[in-house]
This record gives sequence, C-alpha cells and structure tokens, in this order.
Amino acid sequence: MQDQNSREYLHASGVQKATIIGGGVIGASWAALFLAHGVAVIINDPDPDIADKVKVLIDGAVPALSELGCCTDGMMEKLSFEQDLTKAVAGVDLVQECGPERIDFKKDLWRRIEAASANNTLFLSSSSSIPASAQSGSMQQPERLVIGHPFNPPHLMPLVEVVPVAKSDRTMIARVMDFYRGVGKVPLELKKEIPGFVANRLQAAIFRECMYLVREGIVSIRDLDDIVTNSLGIRWASNGPFLSFHLGGGSGGMAHFVEHLGKGGMEQLWATFESVSFDFRTSRLLIDQAQQFYGDHSIVELAENRDRKQVAILKALDDVSSVDGA
Ligand SMILES: NC(=O)c1ccc[n+]([C@@H]2O[C@H](COP(=O)([O-])OP(=O)(O)OC[C@H]3O[C@@H](n4cnc5c(N)ncnc54)[C@H](O)[C@@H]3O)[C@@H](O)[C@H]2O)c1
Repeated sequence: MQDQNSREYLHASGVQKATIIGGGVIGASWAALFLAHGVAVIINDPDPDIADKVKVLIDGAVPALSELGCCTDGMMEKLSFEQDLTKAVAGVDLVQECGPERIDFKKDLWRRIEAASANNTLFLSSSSSIPASAQSGSMQQPERLVIGHPFNPPHLMPLVEVVPVAKSDRTMIARVMDFYRGVGKVPLELKKEIPGFVANRLQAAIFRECMYLVREGIVSIRDLDDIVTNSLGIRWASNGPFLSFHLGGGSGGMAHFVEHLGKGGMEQLWATFESVSFDFRTSRLLIDQAQQFYGDHSIVELAENRDRKQVAILKALDDVSSVDGA
C-alpha cells in the first residue's frame, strides 16, 4: 500500500500536514490513513471527548492498515487536536472536511477556513451528497473547494470521488489526485457535479429497493444482506455492472444482453418498482431487525470483522490483478 510510487505521489502533492474537520466516523478513518502514510494530522472538533473517541477509532483501524503494508509504528506522534478553527487550519497543506452533513454548517465553515488558510492549501469536502458549489457560496474563491468523497471506511475503501467545479484550477486538481494516490487511494474524477455523486446515487437506488423488499416482508434484513454478499457483492468486487452484463450476454456481449435480458426482462422489472420512505413503520422495522440480527455484537466488533473481510478481499484482488492486469 505504501510503496515507492505512493511516496512519489505524496511528494508531488506537496502535502505533509493536514487538518481534518470533524473526528467522527469518517474523520477518524481519514486520520488513521493519513497518519499511516506519514502525513501529520490536526483534528478540529468541538466535542470535549474527541481525543479519546478518535484514538479508539484509530486503534481499530491500525491492524487493517498494517496488514495492507502501511508503517503504523509511531504514527500517533503526528496526531494533534486543536479546537480553535483559525489555529487548526493555519499553515497546513490540506483541509479534509468531515463535519455534519448540513449545507448551512458547511457554507459558514468554508468561509471561515478560507479566511484563515494559506493561498495554496487544498480544500476538500468528504460530503456524501452536497456538491462543492452548494457549499462554497460564502467563499471569496469558491472554485478552490473540491469534493473528495470517500467510501466508508476511507482507511480501507480504495475509491475517492473527486468532483471539481467548472472553474477549478487543473494544477490544483492534479495535486488533489496526487495526494489521494499518495495515501493509497484510487481517486476518480467526475466530469460534472451531481448531488450524491456516483457511488452514493447507486447505493441510494439499490437501498430503496432493499427497503421495499424488507417492508413488504419478502426477506428480513439479514436474508437481504446474505443475498447481496453472496451475489452482487462478489460480482461487483471483481467486475462493475456494465462489464458483468457484457459477460451476461455470452458470446453476443452487451448487444445480446440489451435485446435478451434488458428489453425483455429488466424494463419489465423497472415497471414494478415502488417508492419507499423512512416513515415511522419502515424505520422501526429496520432498527428492530438490526438489533435482532446484529445487536449481540458491539459496533466496534462488527467494524473489526468488516475490516478483516475487506482486507482479505483487497489482498486477493491485488494478487489477481498483478497476474492479468485487469
Ligand atoms: N458515514 C459515512 O458512511 C460517510 C461516508 C462518506 C462520507 N460521509 C460524509 O462525511 C461527513 C462526516 O460524516 P460522519 O459519518 O463522519 O459524521 P459523524 O457524525 O460521525 O461525525 C461528525 C463529527 O463532526 C463533529 N462536529 C460537529 N460540529 C462541528 C464543528 N462545528 N466543527 C468541527 N467538527 C464538528 C462532531 O463532533 C462529530 O465528531 C459528512 O459530510 C458525511 O456526509 C459519511
């Protein structure tokens, strides 16, 4: 994970010191990843217990990062906490925002960050759904803000969606891409802004149907999870939806898939889809079943188990790619 290439990318990005705004689920995971690649991290979060909470989350991430080849010895020495925003962002090379998912909060935050930062500091928002142009309205130079959207947990999931705005400076975007490559990620630049970006739009579309199937009593949440991990999860970890259906078309490839299974099957299924919402009854069902099927284990235990499985998948895929390059 931390090879000569990633060190060169990190060097090219010029990032040695980063501030993370918000040390929750995403902020702490980013912090673990950055620290494991030698980047000094300052965390800005008003929670008085934030240092203890972040340390627990980072401790949980360390085994997976070590397993993936990162040098985690002594990495906590480069971690510090600063509650004063102005002091927290002064003199750092990059700000990765991971605060509450509210437009009003993010707009005000970026105005204050810009006022306190150096001219060449990279500004990245982890937001799952709010495009940069919706967050940057109070900035002097709104084009400085870019989305750097990770998939949870950022210390393991390779993808980072980088979403510039129309006026983003290309040299700055190149530094952003270098930085994420430098910390072992696979950054993918989107061509246009769209709420939710790509991975979360896909996730939301699928989750809508997951909720429908549970709400209608077709399956429990446990059965649905097992169906996905034993089919789509494995399929999509190796080939994306388009390549999968190109193969699903047999020797006729995508053309045969479109005629045979697309027009003939998928279009008819689309006509049966219904909408859902997080109404009281459906929400209760999800929460009660999560407790019923997963409540015997703590979130920390479940996250450690998830990390072990995901590391195994990443390592297995790495071995195969090194053979066939695909
Ligand atoms: N959880 C996910 O799966 C996920 C995935 C990708 C992106 N994101 C995005 O990452 C961001 C953070 O999400 P999360 O799940 O880590 O949230 P979280 O609730 O776990 O953490 C948010 C943190 O922000 C802190 N905070 C509150 N007010 C603050 C302030 N004024 N200044 C600094 N910090 C403040 C809180 O104390 C908390 O520690 C959101 O924008 C979210 O959309 C989340």
